[in-house]
Amino acid sequence: MHVDPGMLPTETQEEISAVIAQRHERERDAAAGGPLPVHPPRDFEAYRSAALRHPTHELVRADPEEIELVSPAFGHSDVAAHESDLTIQHPGEPLGERILVRGRVLDGDGRPVRNQLLEIWQANAAGRYIHKRDQHPAPLDPNFTGVGRVITDDDGGYALTTIKPGAYPWKNHRNAWRPAHIHFSLFGTAFTQRLITQMYFPGDPLFALDPIYQSIVDPAARERLVAAYDHSISEPEWAIGYRWDIVLTGPQSTWMEPEEADHA
Ligand SMILES: [Fe+2]
Repeated sequence: MHVDPGMLPTETQEEISAVIAQRHERERDAAAGGPLPVHPPRDFEAYRSAALRHPTHELVRADPEEIELVSPAFGHSDVAAHESDLTIQHPGEPLGERILVRGRVLDGDGRPVRNQLLEIWQANAAGRYIHKRDQHPAPLDPNFTGVGRVITDDDGGYALTTIKPGAYPWKNHRNAWRPAHIHFSLFGTAFTQRLITQMYFPGDPLFALDPIYQSIVDPAARERLVAAYDHSISEPEWAIGYRWDIVLTGPQSTWMEPEEADHA
């Protein structure tokens, strides 16, 4: 497949990296030595599409109870065991590096958050999503959909089996590549509490270049989105293990996407 060069952005990585660096400096100046914001500025310029669509007016407040009347609900019986293993959802095994991702969902005081519906979606090993808007020339895998669900246990724990996703290009600027990541959604106890974030893999050389990852100004908050390799999770002759805890509130909380962000 060939992409019409006229459709591609012309801005270079160097230009985007300079925009990121300038914004980080402005945020540091604004913090004046105090704590940096954990959440990214909504108008983070280097993330081009977000900068264009960020809200400029006060948000319209909806009545949460009214939304609950028409929102989806789930029960335990709705989530089947095989949904937490993305490698067994088709007749054959998906291609790629099999991984185990485990962790706990915690509140700001370190207490387990039980019974949470956790959903994930991700690209396949070649960096391709099954989505009509993802048409870049990497293969789809007939044995991989890239969607999973699990409910946290009494200890707030979750366990997922999947394939390590590949990096993929996006047209934020020329030669823009997203670091490999898995999207996570946590439903909370009501649809209106849904939170969405992304988990990354340690040591990715694309971190420094990625306007979405870098839209989080605080380096420590960025770091909290990166899973740790955990040899005690790896299984011999089978899979590589990663640990990633999600903290919902408090100063150590995991960054969550603003509600209007898309899934890039
Ligand atoms: Fe993505």
